[in-house]
Amino acid sequence: MAIRPIVTFPHPVLKQQCAAVEQFDDELATLLDDMRQTMDDADGLGLAANQVGVSLRVFTMTLPESDAEDAPMTHYELVNPEIVRRSGEIRFEEGCLSFPGISETVVRAATIQMRYQDRAGAVVEQTFEGVGAVCAQHELDHLNGVTFLDRLSTLKKRLAMRAYKRARAQAKIDAEEDGRAAVRPWG
Ligand code: NI
Repeated sequence: MAIRPIVTFPHPVLKQQCAAVEQFDDELATLLDDMRQTMDDADGLGLAANQVGVSLRVFTMTLPESDAEDAPMTHYELVNPEIVRRSGEIRFEEGCLSFPGISETVVRAATIQMRYQDRAGAVVEQTFEGVGAVCAQHELDHLNGVTFLDRLSTLKKRLAMRAYKRARAQAKIDAEEDGRAAVRPWG
């Protein structure tokens, strides 16, 4: 297993429609293992394959089993996921590993039923609610080249983009002051 670098917006791979997985082989297993380790290392709830530069329809999630503070976590691997049913509405403040430094409240379906394949290619159907539903919809959007800011109104998106540019500029200044390599500039 290895930690892979997470790409940040505006990297073009984040705007691409990812391709369906056809080979359920060792390469896929390695990708899934690496994504789990990368997500854990970054303290993320979810990670889409194109966030590590691989344009395939795969995402991973690690979700608490309940609202309790010390609830055990369950890890999910979703290959070729699709939503087959959705209901209700939930507002949730989302962040994204590809947009470090900002968070925005997004409205999504409160409950979704997903159909996907596991790493061996077996078809799985599963219902996600609350934070699990939010996370799954956020990650599925990534696979379609859509980011959480695309779910905001034009004005809110513009403000969020401005805040993100500021956060990136500040991160660059901090990195230079610390003598670390600067993050890639906006653009
Ligand atoms: Ni994201």
